[in-house]
Amino acid sequence: MTEPLVRIEGVSKSFGTFQAVKNVSLEVAKGEIFSLLGGSGCGKTTLLRMLAGFEAPTAGKIFIDGVDMGAVPPWERPVHMMFQSYALFPHMSVEKNVGYGLKHEKMSASERQDRVRQMLDLVQLTQFATRKPHQISGGQRQRVALARALARQPKLLLLDEPLAALDKKLREHTQFELMSIQERTGVTFIVVTHDQEEAMTLSDRIAVMDQGVVKQVGKPGSVYEFPNSRFVANFLGSINAWEAKVVSIGEVITVDVPALGQQVQARFIEGLAVGQTVTLALRPEKITIHRAPVEGANVIAGEVKDLAYFGKDSLYRIALPSGQLVSVHAVNANRGAEKDRLADWYDKVWLTFAPASAILLTE
Ligand SMILES: Nc1ncnc2c1ncn2[C@@H]1O[C@H](COP(=O)(O)OP(=O)(O)O)[C@@H](O)[C@H]1O
Ligand SMILES: [Mg+2]
Repeated sequence: MTEPLVRIEGVSKSFGTFQAVKNVSLEVAKGEIFSLLGGSGCGKTTLLRMLAGFEAPTAGKIFIDGVDMGAVPPWERPVHMMFQSYALFPHMSVEKNVGYGLKHEKMSASERQDRVRQMLDLVQLTQFATRKPHQISGGQRQRVALARALARQPKLLLLDEPLAALDKKLREHTQFELMSIQERTGVTFIVVTHDQEEAMTLSDRIAVMDQGVVKQVGKPGSVYEFPNSRFVANFLGSINAWEAKVVSIGEVITVDVPALGQQVQARFIEGLAVGQTVTLALRPEKITIHRAPVEGANVIAGEVKDLAYFGKDSLYRIALPSGQLVSVHAVNANRGAEKDRLADWYDKVWLTFAPASAILLTE
């Protein structure tokens, strides 16, 4: 990574005896879209507010563009925070709202007008310039807030649940818009969200948080495919997880899984010892359903207990002789009659998965 725009060093924040943020260290590169992802109350907003300067860390340091922010008040930071409620002025037109933050800058009226025009163009709201916030849609209001935030050309834009007020379809569309606007401006975005799909779609990198702690940082694909803990594995998508014991360590690691009533093979990872208890985690889409017996390792026999058909895909719950349920997610790639379905209720099936898809977790 080049010189990071943001460096958070061992930052903690307590409110009385309650520690909302615990010893967080992170770096965010220039031009990144970086997400803070976690459930409600895990400390995301608090961390964002410390970056903006609205809260002071109880411990640790924050550097923005190499400068220690310790003594820098919010209004002198090269940062803009877009709040969860966009807080547009209802009596002002769209263009007045966008230009509002520029009033106190040393700009001539014509410069200001140019900037507002540029911003409206950027968020494609030129034709709505003279409307009031109540005369435009929710998605458009979101873009007004974004234009206003970007008008002051911050180095860093902090967005707290920026799409939470939008319905699902609009949210998906707006995610792409947000990415394209970020790309065109080059401004670094830190986005707070509790929505894992949103974080996966938007972000260059994600920090997954739980109870004030950053559990894992990485690209969407790597936190999804290589979670470092049961918490992260569960938070990003769904997962089958069972306790297992390491039996042998070679090119692959063989573990005994009482819930499956058998041994299975998993990708080699460093640092395990024979006899150690671990968690075997397996994503539902990494499992293949067969309707006839299959030879080899990692074959599990069971029976279809539940089947949810979603159209483009189906979710199966396969019952094992032990009573354990295995979730399997399959794409309905072929269009056929119902009788041609991959498997039906009460069918006997065989499940397979590649050792490389089996995740061993120690945390
Ligand atoms: N000013 C405050 N005083 C006391 N507790 C606070 C304050 N701000 C936040 N908290 C607590 O800190 C925790 C984290 O809050 P927050 O950062 O808002 O979470 P998130 O944004 O992840 O939902 C919560 O338990 C919240 O109640
Ligand atoms: Mg919050």
